[in-house]
Amino acid sequence: MDDLLIHGVEDIYYAENQIVKALPKLIDKATNRDLTKGLKDHLEETRNQIQRLDQTFKKLGKKPEGVKCPAIDGLIEEGDEIAGEVGDKEVLDAAIIGAAQAVEHYEIARYGTLIAWAESLGHDDIVRFLNTNLNEEKAADKKLSTVAMRKGGNRKAAS
Ligand SMILES: [Fe+2]
Ligand SMILES: [Fe+2]
Repeated sequence: MDDLLIHGVEDIYYAENQIVKALPKLIDKATNRDLTKGLKDHLEETRNQIQRLDQTFKKLGKKPEGVKCPAIDGLIEEGDEIAGEVGDKEVLDAAIIGAAQAVEHYEIARYGTLIAWAESLGHDDIVRFLNTNLNEEKAADKKLSTVAMRKGGNRKAAS
């Protein structure tokens, strides 16, 4: 069970590092100001999340190490593809929001599972780190929904 937890942390560690690489590309392409700011803020948060994972590894007595995760690679690749195909700026923003939310939901799923595993193993200190990350992912997801609705991102794009 400990091995499963460690593998899971390595998996999300890889994912967070890939997200740090992918977000600047989306920030460059986004035009809505709230969207750009939200993505920039989340890039900063993601860097802090990686530090919390570094601490998680330390508590587990492991060296921070990522293990290739095809799921996140696929989500990022798909986002790049869709964003590359869209010309209209508002439609592009909607596509970026959709791609970013898919990533957030992936992260939310993974952190939820890791927290349950860490809890069952009695790693209370690790649960705290993972919970902080989970709450940031949930907040980021909500913010993206707000941008999509308030700015009519999706509505305008649908017309
Ligand atoms: Fe994250
Ligand atoms: Fe995230």
